[in-house]
Amino acid sequence: MNPQIEKRIRQSIADLSACQIETSSYEIKFLLAEVLNCEVGDVLSYSNEMTKQQLKQFEKFISMRHQHIPADKIIGHKGFYKHEFSVSYDVLSPRSDTEILVEATIEKVRANNCKTILELGVGSGCVILSILSDCKQLFGTGIDISTAALAVTQKNASAMGLSKRLSLRQADWFASNFVDQLETKFDIIVSNPPYICSDEIKSLATEVREYDPIIALDGGKDGLDSYRRIAELMPYLLNEGGYICLEVGENQAHDVSDLFMSVGLKPEKIIKDFSDIERCVIIKK
Ligand SMILES: C[S@@+](CC[C@H](N)C(=O)[O-])C[C@H]1O[C@@H](n2cnc3c(N)ncnc32)[C@H](O)[C@@H]1O
Repeated sequence: MNPQIEKRIRQSIADLSACQIETSSYEIKFLLAEVLNCEVGDVLSYSNEMTKQQLKQFEKFISMRHQHIPADKIIGHKGFYKHEFSVSYDVLSPRSDTEILVEATIEKVRANNCKTILELGVGSGCVILSILSDCKQLFGTGIDISTAALAVTQKNASAMGLSKRLSLRQADWFASNFVDQLETKFDIIVSNPPYICSDEIKSLATEVREYDPIIALDGGKDGLDSYRRIAELMPYLLNEGGYICLEVGENQAHDVSDLFMSVGLKPEKIIKDFSDIERCVIIKK
């Protein structure tokens, strides 16, 4: 192990935990890998001494972590599912729990030979781009209320060579003319909408509350505002026999299933995440 690197890792963890910032050796190695321009797995065996410039950049990263800025927002990218995605302060940081939504949707696309997919709320694009990348016959439409988020999706789509199979547009699903803006129905719809109860936002970790966009988090009084609206839209947006795959917050799976049942759809499956929390709901029209 490179002793200089080992010392930096130990020092950074101690510095940050003295300021009540939970961090892991993995996170510090992740920041070091960016500075050293190597893979995370190669950080410990990095053979050279760090240059003055590298040390300075690493100090800057650690001081940003001191301000609770998440590591992916510091370096501007994050690994999700099978790819690396650019991120910015305009998008929700991709969460590993959301990979379950991607897998479940890909399974439905393949089993039903879906040709068209709509994602409601693309953010960084990590969900729809991961799906398009694995399902070569699929054409996607992604919408988001945030033009800044759409610019990040577009950047990721170009980097992955998927721009030709993804059409992006700015739209608000609460708008009365939302359906007219889309003009068509889809074989499958996927969404990870904002689902945190408004009152709970203030108790979220600073990393989330301050550095993820509020529009990506706030689901209204009971967290279900967007699901209510999305359920209302299903008769107009989803083809007969099609599926909607949703990420949900803790304890929301059954309420969300009921909302979609009330518009005539059939909840088919609830999938748990690795913390045993019901995280995805799969619904058939
Ligand atoms: C929880 S984030 C999910 C982002 C990304 N799909 C992911 O899983 O990482 C929700 C996204 O929905 C978008 N959004 C929130 N309200 C919206 C609305 N009324 N109409 C359209 N998009 C909306 C936000 O801008 C945000 O990008």
